[in-house]
Amino acid sequence: MADLMRVSSGVPGLDAMLGGGYIPQSAILVRGAPGTGKTTFGLQFVLDGARQGQAGLFVTFEEFPQSLYRDAASLGWDLAEVEASGALHLLFTSPEVLLTSLATPDSNLLRRIQQGGVQRVVVDSLSHFTRAVRDDHARRRAYHQVISAFRREGITAVYLDEEGRADYTRQERGGLSFIADTLIMLRYLEIDSAIQRALLVLKMRGSAHNTSIHRYTIGPGGSVVGEPLTGLSGLLSGLVERHLISTVR
Ligand SMILES: Nc1ncnc2c1ncn2[C@@H]1O[C@H](COP(=O)(O)OP(=O)(O)OP(=O)(O)O)[C@@H](O)[C@H]1O
Ligand SMILES: [Mg+2]
Repeated sequence: MADLMRVSSGVPGLDAMLGGGYIPQSAILVRGAPGTGKTTFGLQFVLDGARQGQAGLFVTFEEFPQSLYRDAASLGWDLAEVEASGALHLLFTSPEVLLTSLATPDSNLLRRIQQGGVQRVVVDSLSHFTRAVRDDHARRRAYHQVISAFRREGITAVYLDEEGRADYTRQERGGLSFIADTLIMLRYLEIDSAIQRALLVLKMRGSAHNTSIHRYTIGPGGSVVGEPLTGLSGLLSGLVERHLISTVR
């Protein structure tokens, strides 16, 4: 049975790792390298909401709207159909326009959110702010503005973020992982000469959560979280070593 105090992620196996799901009205950061499945995660979140009668808004800064419909179709989802039902709003915009709309009390966007009863939002992706707002302080302020605007509307928001090598050397791109309530990392791992997908809930403010690293797969229907990865070290760095346990006879 669904946990009424939590918001389901839409990803099979993930809610159990989150102690039942996301915390309502919280900000969730899903961070991963290109192709790890961030957009898929985001789509699963809003489509799951649509199925439960919780309207969703998917904000994308990608330049080609058609590619989102096409990628969704390859996973078995007809976004246009869900949009037509009123349960999903797709917004193709820029970081600058989003910031302005959220800061303007009677903007079209805020009216759409309020009149449409939007409860779930996905922003794909925050990495576009890095290009739009160059200064670290200004970017931090921009993140704060977006996150608090959606929080003010009572929305549970999933922010997708492309992980780059620079994150560890520069000031963590405006302290995003501090601003977010929940941080989920998606990783590629090379294990026994094959690439596997792995997921970790790195932090979850105000809740217990599963701290082990789990496999996940992407296929028709989206991503599915599987078993924990055990007997391996170096999972966070992506350089994996298998632990050989020698038995003494
Ligand atoms: N129908 C499918 N069956 C199996 N795997 C798929 C399918 N559709 C997509 N994938 C996998 O999902 C990955 C892309 O997922 P997604 O677009 O969600 O990643 P992303 O992290 O958003 O990528 P980007 O950083 O490019 O935006 C692809 O690399 C592919 O491996
Ligand atoms: Mg993507």
